[in-house]
Amino acid sequence: MATKKPDIKYTQIFINNQFVDAVSGKKFRTINPATGETNAEVAEGDKADVDKAVAAARAAFRRGSPWRSMDASARAKLMHKLADLIDRDAEYLGSLETLDNGMPIKFSTFFAHMAADIMRYYAGWADKIHGHTIPTDGTNFTYTRKEPVGVVGQIIPWNFPIMMLVWKWGVVMATGCTSVLKPAEQTPLTALYIASLSREAGFPDGVVNVVPGYGPTAGGAITAHSDINKVAFTGSTEVGHLIMEMAGKTNLKRVSLELGGKSPLVIWKDVDLDEAVNIAYDAIFANQGQSCAAGSRTYVHEDIYDEFVKRATAKAVARKVGDPFDAANEQGPQIDDEMFNKVLGLIESGKREGAKVECGGNRLGDRGFFIQPTVFSNVSDNMRIAKEEIFGPVQSILKFSTLDEVIERANKTTYGLAAGILTKDLETAITFANAVEAGSVWVNCYAAVAPQTPFGGFKQSGLGRELGEDSLHEYLEVKTVSIKMPSKN
Ligand code: NAI
Ligand code: MG
Repeated sequence: MATKKPDIKYTQIFINNQFVDAVSGKKFRTINPATGETNAEVAEGDKADVDKAVAAARAAFRRGSPWRSMDASARAKLMHKLADLIDRDAEYLGSLETLDNGMPIKFSTFFAHMAADIMRYYAGWADKIHGHTIPTDGTNFTYTRKEPVGVVGQIIPWNFPIMMLVWKWGVVMATGCTSVLKPAEQTPLTALYIASLSREAGFPDGVVNVVPGYGPTAGGAITAHSDINKVAFTGSTEVGHLIMEMAGKTNLKRVSLELGGKSPLVIWKDVDLDEAVNIAYDAIFANQGQSCAAGSRTYVHEDIYDEFVKRATAKAVARKVGDPFDAANEQGPQIDDEMFNKVLGLIESGKREGAKVECGGNRLGDRGFFIQPTVFSNVSDNMRIAKEEIFGPVQSILKFSTLDEVIERANKTTYGLAAGILTKDLETAITFANAVEAGSVWVNCYAAVAPQTPFGGFKQSGLGRELGEDSLHEYLEVKTVSIKMPSKN
């Protein structure tokens, strides 16, 4: 049964707890990827709007401001309130996400509730952030304080818009920073709605600000801003490079980056084959393949390769693709025409380079950005489909024979976000987990991301960690205070 499409309530820039037009008066369209129709015209932020938002975030961070003088436990209460409001409106938020992003409704609503849980996880941290007392030689009394880094610029992508916003806000709020956040130009709507919830929850003016707009303009203004203390970015490795470069050229703002991946999932010969096929299928096809941690290189042991390919193909063929508002569907459209064409182009390169199309390989229908679930066999490591991030519903199945060989091949990439191994053999699992160069390793499961678990990349998959205790340190400065005392006593 199809869910009703939501009304769109907020399309303006959110600064100082107010919705306002862009200084330029400009607007841009956000599109429904299932139909290509316009969802709304949204205020298009640029440098002038970023400047206003940074000024608001700076004022909210100033000494003596309501936010800076608030007890940490009171910050936690506001965060719990926001989590409750997200839960209250999860169905609405889910439908808004589906409209703007194309994510099937059952997943978007699930993620809205999970976003509330992430906010609660971070609320728990707010009053548990503290330094140390340090015994030093001599008579000084020395302690450290963990202080919020300040005004943070946060730039997020379109693939999980609600989740990405809450991952970014949770840590800002827990540590006592303030934020200027730019949602992706493809998906501004849920960020603006959650901004209205933050106001309803009672966050002081300027603590969180949302400036929709394009990457090079609004995003670039955040990256270059000399009054932003840190920038946190999730998106392409290409833009990650630009952000570090700009931080270096301007004020050495702190940088954390969550970038792309080409994550290997290794399937050993001793697995239950149907279970392995299911895990590998979810690992790559979830969210239309638009996941930074997607298991996009499926390495299967030679003893079970042919049978695995046969069953993986049958599973992909049965995948229900279509209207994301229909609760029966598991796959919606790709986000926009650019990504749609990129994925189809990579599929063509796979065909040209000699991989075998077991199923799919084309667009689906003639409206919206739908792509058939596609399975390639006979993939080799040097093909583009084995090297580049496709970000689409395309499974590439590669064959291997020994553990040492597959470890070497798994690591032969500039990425290092995640990896998985399926096996009943503990020694094989642990050898792989130790040797693989990846920020997360999943054994007999995949994408086991939880609020408590640090998530981030080795190599060019990023810098720093999100979620878990480790994420807090990305938003904190350490201050050492030494006090001269007359004697040891
Ligand atoms: P992107 O990196 O261009 O966009 C992500 C965010 O960065 C958006 O908010 C965008 O407006 C902003 N941005 C773009 N250029 C910027 C700039 N010069 N300065 C500051 N901000 C900027 O990613 P895009 O173009 O949407 O997708 C390209 C590829 O990136 C995808 O095919 C996929 O491989 C990868 N990607 C990875 C994601 C992840 O979760 N790590 C999420 C989205 C895309
Ligand atoms: Mg881009």
